[in-house]
Amino acid sequence: MNWKQIFARKDLEGLLAEAAGEHRLHRVLGPWSLTALGVGCIIGAGIFVVTGRAAALDAGPGVILSYGIAGIGCALAALCYAEFAAMAPVAGSAYTYAYTTLGEIFAWIIGWDLILEYAMGCATVASAWTSYFNALLSTLGLHNVAAKFSNPPWSVDDTPLGYVNLPAVLLVGLITVILVLGIRESARTNASLVALKLVVVVFVIVLGVGYVNSANWTSVPVSRRHLPEEKVVPDVVKSYLKKENKLSDERAVALEPQVKAAYREPWERKEMEELVAQKRLSTADRDKRLAELASAMPQSDEDKSDVAKMLPNVAEKGKKKAIESWGLLGTMGLNRWLVPLDEATRSPFMPYGISGIMLGAAIVFFAFIGFDSISTHAEEARNPQRDVPFGILVSLCLCTLLYIAVAAVITGMVPYPDIDTKAPIANAFSQMAGGQNNPMLRGATGLIALGGLAGMTSVLLVLFLSQARVFMAMSRDGLLPEVFGTVHPKFQTPHVATMLTGTFIAATAGLTPIKTLHEMVNIGTLLAFVMVCAAVFILRFQRPAAERPFRCPIISIVAPAGIFINVLMMLFLPVDSWIRLLAWLALGMVIYFTYSQRHSHLAKHLMQEIGMPRKEITGTRFDP
Ligand code: ALA
Repeated sequence: MNWKQIFARKDLEGLLAEAAGEHRLHRVLGPWSLTALGVGCIIGAGIFVVTGRAAALDAGPGVILSYGIAGIGCALAALCYAEFAAMAPVAGSAYTYAYTTLGEIFAWIIGWDLILEYAMGCATVASAWTSYFNALLSTLGLHNVAAKFSNPPWSVDDTPLGYVNLPAVLLVGLITVILVLGIRESARTNASLVALKLVVVVFVIVLGVGYVNSANWTSVPVSRRHLPEEKVVPDVVKSYLKKENKLSDERAVALEPQVKAAYREPWERKEMEELVAQKRLSTADRDKRLAELASAMPQSDEDKSDVAKMLPNVAEKGKKKAIESWGLLGTMGLNRWLVPLDEATRSPFMPYGISGIMLGAAIVFFAFIGFDSISTHAEEARNPQRDVPFGILVSLCLCTLLYIAVAAVITGMVPYPDIDTKAPIANAFSQMAGGQNNPMLRGATGLIALGGLAGMTSVLLVLFLSQARVFMAMSRDGLLPEVFGTVHPKFQTPHVATMLTGTFIAATAGLTPIKTLHEMVNIGTLLAFVMVCAAVFILRFQRPAAERPFRCPIISIVAPAGIFINVLMMLFLPVDSWIRLLAWLALGMVIYFTYSQRHSHLAKHLMQEIGMPRKEITGTRFDP
């Protein structure tokens, strides 16, 4: 192994000279175009889709706090990104920055990791797009796309199985064509989509405020939350029926809701009585909920007896399932410490306790992904030193404020356990429209579905562009085949990288469940942010005199705090996503040592360096 090479770094000055060379992209983007690119990439599936899962299953109304925590983690990373982007305004983002500070192997790891953020992020958004497409069709009174053609062939939750998520595949195909045609067209398309989605987000806030019922934040019983025990019910029912020789699909389907209702009824009844006594819940609401539960409970003697026999098993297996809520921390045994903490902090606003808020933050973090993609466009910025930090910080602040407002409105409109996990915003308004038979609300639901689609489409455009540019930067360095860096003579776009990326994204979006995709994107991106915070901090010591047109304020606090918060969010993600991340990084290492290390341009320079004066070697610097 060539240790000198794998830790060798590129020179900042060399990088800038290189960017001025043969594959230069046009400098066409000003500060507001960059901000629009940022907003275009930030507001999408996160707020329109992921908020639903986080509010209903992970954090409850406390998702508002989760948005705040994830926003702080991103703001700290954003300040570091901004410093770096201004120092090295060339394509490639965190990958390029790592090449100048940490060395080739770390650059490769980050570049490889960024595929999770950008390409897998696109696949997640495309997959989520289908839910809003179906919501729009419903509002127009049309049939939804058949479940077989809107779901992937495997599932990690209750989603029905299908053959392929076809709308997602077709959408990615269309975006690929648009991007091959060029950055000007893309920026223009992006600007109109960004405008539409901003209008819709503001519309959701303004219209939704009128339907907020503050009791949904403060008085939904904690026991109404989705319980970990419920996740084990299907398995418990199946194994019980098998043991009793009574197993059939119909019987299992009929018993599952009965077991769930019977399990939660005593808790809910007790807690609702307390809330009524405190005058936080009306007797009418209590009676309505008790009637709902009663209708789901077992009615016949046989059902009652079967359900009663299963309940102890549900409680026991559920305890083990609950450990999953603490992600990697649960496997480290820290759940022993976190369980009492959660119990002590549960309230109607935070029904899942502290760990719910943290898991919620790790989940809604997805909604912030994208601000860093502005830095991948540094090479196309007219005045990168000034405009890139501006674009990053302005777009991030704007989106954080909008997210907190939307999360507050949605959790105020609908009791969190009833929030839809697929199209939560459109569904909140359609629930109101259904309840109030209000045609204006129906129209609003349609507009929101349209805005969601526009929002997600623009996110796809920008993330996709970013991926192609990172591939281009890696191919310029020889770490990926040259074909990834080829710029089309007429369209001036990295067309081959774009088409290869499009094929990968379409296949992933069509065949993978969204939950798996989005957890994978989050863990990969959080890792990239941690590495960027570390890299910027290290560079302050390694290159104290380097020109920094934008200096991150109080770096000695910002960078370590960014690392801390982002690592903490990673720790709350499920163990499965850690395993997938490690497998992905291991695959990256195999490719690095079998291909990239051998083709690296830096390695070739290092060879030539022996016996050659250092000043003749452009773009590289070797520090043992
Ligand atoms: N932040 C982007 C979204 O929410 C990835 O869709």
